[in-house]
Amino acid sequence: MAKTHNTYHCSLCGTMHAKWQGQCDGCLEWNCLVEEISGHAPINSALRKPSKDKVPELILQRPDGEDIQTPRNFTGVTEFDRVIGGGLVSGSVTLIGGDPGIGKSTLLTQVAAYLARKENRVIYISGEEAVSQIRMRIKRLSLSDSPMELAAETSLRTVLMGVKKGKKPDLLILDSIQTLWSDAVESAPGSVSQLRAVVQDLVTYAKSNDVAVILVGHVTKDGQIAGPRVVEHMVDTVLYFEGDRSHQYRILRAIKNRFGPVDEIGVFEMREQGLEQVHNPSELFLGDRDGSQAGTAVFAAIEGTRPILIEIQALVIPAAYGTPRRSVVGWDSGRLSMILAVLEARSGMNFSSFDVFLNVVGGMKIAEPAADLAASCALASALLNHPLPRNTIFFGEVSLSGGIRSVRRSEARLKEAVKLGFTKAVIPAGSVKSFDGLELQTLREIHGLTNIVRE
Ligand code: TYD
Ligand code: MG
Repeated sequence: MAKTHNTYHCSLCGTMHAKWQGQCDGCLEWNCLVEEISGHAPINSALRKPSKDKVPELILQRPDGEDIQTPRNFTGVTEFDRVIGGGLVSGSVTLIGGDPGIGKSTLLTQVAAYLARKENRVIYISGEEAVSQIRMRIKRLSLSDSPMELAAETSLRTVLMGVKKGKKPDLLILDSIQTLWSDAVESAPGSVSQLRAVVQDLVTYAKSNDVAVILVGHVTKDGQIAGPRVVEHMVDTVLYFEGDRSHQYRILRAIKNRFGPVDEIGVFEMREQGLEQVHNPSELFLGDRDGSQAGTAVFAAIEGTRPILIEIQALVIPAAYGTPRRSVVGWDSGRLSMILAVLEARSGMNFSSFDVFLNVVGGMKIAEPAADLAASCALASALLNHPLPRNTIFFGEVSLSGGIRSVRRSEARLKEAVKLGFTKAVIPAGSVKSFDGLELQTLREIHGLTNIVRE
């Protein structure tokens, strides 16, 4: 018998280590290594037998060959369809990650039911809930009339043998990959090698049978169960379902997509009767604003291909004791420190004796540098305790020298502002000269900002 030699896999990023250690070499997180029995190849398929026949020939082809265009299957949940790049592609494998309880099963139940109503064969397999529980959810969503097929199962072999019977499914959903197990791998369900083996077999099944497969992966924090990141490289599309559980808004974001653009987002609202699509997200992220408070600025963002207006709120109060606090929700804390430093160095504002808080409304997370100017204006307005001009939007990147740089897709941002009734825009000098329906105020240097706040 082959000697088994145990290895330690990071449950967050999958990096393998020969010995146990406190910190992962790959992602530098702590306490995330789990022991796994190896001695077998980690990806050992339950379905593939070593072939005794001769090895198939490698076929090389020219790039200009004709391909059959794979048709897209529109699910009817338009926000979902857009995020995946315009409908489901048969033979594709999509992974949806997210915190437990965020609404992944709810979203996929809706997608499954809509698709099944359009005469597609849809199979929903849950390893977490009994069929009666799934039925309860379907009833709550008022989708009981949908002819989708349900099963509660955790054995990958049973699932793959089962779905091969009868008509080929148009969509197979597995909720979740952490509960499935392959009997070809010795380690426990939820371990890194199990997860990889399970996903590898499902990818093979999807590609060889031309079936669209959606996998659910829970984002885990405790390190005992492997998270979806360890299989991201194996699938075609990776989506994350995000949101603050205390807010109703949920954002579906494409991180990787072999069939469409990345960074595309879909916005949903979690209601009593399921997820409702939000077609005009700007209204959600604007807060209950009347524009008269100091410290709030509206940022015209681009998320994926869509412009969205988002309110940024700042609070600046005298520091009670010790080092002043810097706290930020929905934005990068390093970016906040940089903006505060630039404001101090280039426009003479002094935040050193104040606690500074910055919040992005609605549980939204902003990653664009284009938010710098809006954040700067919110901070300056909070410090000076003077509201910014009403009905105004802001965008622009701030450099360390205090210069304001142009950002991509200015027109799209301005257009969204006009659509939502804004009348003025503060933008980088040299980006857009004039825009119908908006008074434009251009800014070249950050020190010009005090005039805008004091206006
Ligand atoms: P769920 O889809 O089970 O989350 P996940 O699969 O990501 O773990 O749903 C989570 C929460 O959503 C649950 O706490 C109840 C709530 N919910 C609603 O508010 N309305 C609904 O119609 C449904 C089905 C769930
Ligand atoms: Mg679930």
